Amino acid sequence: MDLSARYLGLSLASPLVPSASPATESLDSLKRLEDAGAGAVVLPSLFEEQIRSEERTLEHFLRRGAESYAESLSYLPEPADYGLVPEEHLERVRRAKEALRIPVIASLNGSTPGGWTAYAERLEAAGADALELNIYRVAADIAVSGAVVEEEALAVVRDVRGRVSLPLAVKLGPYYSALGNMASRLVGAGADGLVLFNRFLQPDVDLEALETRPKLLLSGPQAQRLPMTWVALLHGRLGSASLAATGGVQTAEDALKMVMVGADAVMMAAELLRRGPGHLSAVLDGMRRWMSEHEYESLAQMKGSMSQLFGADPSAFERANYVKTLRGYHL
Ligand SMILES: Cc1cc2nc3c(=O)[nH]c(=O)nc-3n(C[C@H](O)[C@H](O)[C@H](O)COP(=O)(O)O)c2cc1C
Repeated sequence: MDLSARYLGLSLASPLVPSASPATESLDSLKRLEDAGAGAVVLPSLFEEQIRSEERTLEHFLRRGAESYAESLSYLPEPADYGLVPEEHLERVRRAKEALRIPVIASLNGSTPGGWTAYAERLEAAGADALELNIYRVAADIAVSGAVVEEEALAVVRDVRGRVSLPLAVKLGPYYSALGNMASRLVGAGADGLVLFNRFLQPDVDLEALETRPKLLLSGPQAQRLPMTWVALLHGRLGSASLAATGGVQTAEDALKMVMVGADAVMMAAELLRRGPGHLSAVLDGMRRWMSEHEYESLAQMKGSMSQLFGADPSAFERANYVKTLRGYHL
């Protein structure tokens, strides 16, 4: 049974890629994911805020001198708020690279053009096999148009593309008014692949305390449909660019569906956090079983067969089907 895949020009033994999350944080967990059959791993992100925070601290000490240390601490953001300092992050990439045989994908996460993108070069120098650039922006400023938001995202991609020669994936959110066009422009700006989609943290409101609660909800299977729809719509339309699906993948069937609609890589986070790294091998076993029962010999045979371009029902992913489905619902 051939479960091999190609993602961002890399040869993977399987299409299952644990995406950035605490499941890919420790070396122990990374090794267990490799042993369980991960095709590659995406390390947790290095955030624009981590880099900017370190730059500000450095600038402050250079300007004011180290003797004002105590006073500085009172108004500088705590680097701990953002996790590891960038140097430690680079060390984590080096260690992961040394310890693993599968490709290691580093992740850089930010939203606006700026000097933080220089860390792309440092992640490449640390040995990453590919870079995932996560453009996470909540376009909350009502004075800033969609065109500006898109142009800034493209500027970040062009900037990073110009800095590194390793394969570059862009992880994006679904909230662009013309997502297909944006996807195509991201590829034009230098992305070798797209990761669909970013998961936006939407805080809850605590009615008693009258506070917002940034509580993270792990996703469930209902999160699959959005990436599935867009992988299906984009498969075959972006030249040689790869597509990775992330969101709500829990089982072998979920992963197979993503491949059928055209995903080159299928990412998992929440379910690995719930069940542990070993769950990956159960998913792979389930994929093999299903494929053998349905007489498939390789993933290549099925990839994209249910996409909009190659599937039997191209209208399934668009408005016509929406109207039919709503009208067909009965209590
Ligand atoms: C606790 C947690 C931490 C995460 N950290 C990152 C991160 O550092 N960078 C990133 O791009 N995505 C991060 N993600 C998003 C996941 O990589 C993934 O895209 C998302 O959770 C959807 O997949 P899932 O439904 O399999 O969890 C994180 C998700 C969780 C649950």
